[in-house]
Amino acid sequence: MSIGIIGSGTLGSNFARALAKKGISATISNSRGPESLSTFVEEIGASIKAGTVEEAASADIVLVALRWVDLKGALSALPAWNGRVVIDGTNAVEFLAPDSPDATDARNPLAVYGIKSVDLGEKYSSEVFSQFVPGARVVKAFNHNPGEALLEPKVSGGQRVLFYSGDDVAAKAEVGGIIEAAGFFPVDLGSLDVGGPLASLPFGALSTHSFVKINE
Ligand SMILES: NC(=O)c1ccc[n+]([C@@H]2O[C@H](COP(=O)([O-])OP(=O)(O)OC[C@H]3O[C@@H](n4cnc5c(N)ncnc54)[C@H](OP(=O)(O)O)[C@@H]3O)[C@@H](O)[C@H]2O)c1
Repeated sequence: MSIGIIGSGTLGSNFARALAKKGISATISNSRGPESLSTFVEEIGASIKAGTVEEAASADIVLVALRWVDLKGALSALPAWNGRVVIDGTNAVEFLAPDSPDATDARNPLAVYGIKSVDLGEKYSSEVFSQFVPGARVVKAFNHNPGEALLEPKVSGGQRVLFYSGDDVAAKAEVGGIIEAAGFFPVDLGSLDVGGPLASLPFGALSTHSFVKINE
């Protein structure tokens, strides 16, 4: 089973670090090409390689760690997914430039965090996300905590809980297996339309909180 990562920012890089700590292999990519990642992959461990977006996207399981605004541009030209597993690590938020009017808009409850919710109408975010990866089996995961939390699977005398959800049982089992292999405690939240919204920023009831499985 191969793993690819599209995006090497806060989420993508910390996911790669979490895998590297356990010696799990993956190919990481970004918009600037593999050369830009050579120092990073040298530092974090031999199991992680830098590749092109196309190489990362050809893996059996692909984490999409892109900003919402970049999804269409980055994903639309990729080869067919053919039932492969795509992990939706995104949240439907817009990152605000400090000098943008939105950053100080009193009607934006998220302005203090430097983000703004993207209006998806009646849709939930993984429903929209799935349209960018037609034919993929989408699992929502790794999106509900700060990326840095992926550096700490063991916290407060237990294991950090990571939620995941999806409509394909086998795909979910594979992602749950990665979560477990990386040292976290996986909790299946059910189908994409239930678990996705619960654990998505900005307003999901289970997002941003730290849940810990206490080992007895
Ligand atoms: N930040 C967090 O703590 C966190 C936690 C959970 C979930 N998330 C979600 O994860 C997603 C990514 O957030 P982030 O904070 O990691 O963003 P980020 O730090 O800005 O990183 C975004 C990455 O996307 C890459 N990228 C942009 N356009 C691309 C393209 N066309 N092809 C390939 N790569 C491209 C960028 O490449 P370059 O490096 O070459 O610019 C960068 O590596 C967002 O949806 C966010 O809501 C973030």
